[in-house]
Amino acid sequence: MTEARSYRVGTIEDLPPGSIRVVPIGRRDVVVFNLNGEFHALADYCPHMGAPLHLGELTGMTISTGAYTYQWVREGEILRCPWHAWEFDIAAGRSVTAPVRRIRKYPVRVEDGYVIVELTPIGTRSPDDA
Ligand code: FES
Repeated sequence: MTEARSYRVGTIEDLPPGSIRVVPIGRRDVVVFNLNGEFHALADYCPHMGAPLHLGELTGMTISTGAYTYQWVREGEILRCPWHAWEFDIAAGRSVTAPVRRIRKYPVRVEDGYVIVELTPIGTRSPDDA
């Protein structure tokens, strides 16, 4: 089994809530999000046609709360792809409308004030791959 490697991608001050940062690590670009103090890291590659997701827009989503009633929820937790507007749940790394369409997600942790992303070597599976 191949070991994951840890990469510092910035300090927690560099990534305030609501921020998006693209970080080149080796041959990959990783997008790091701070959603209300919780960090997430995704591949910078839309599973539809490969758009750079760091150029997407943070938004929310509408849910039905009953017959003819709707509610806007999760503001800032949904990423809209810049090319064709597919929307992704950042925390889950999945499309909102077609959850089988996934973005590769990487483990993130905070240690000594640094945001650290773990990557497995290309060609191996990450712990988040199902
Ligand atoms: S490339 Fe992202 S929705 Fe088409």
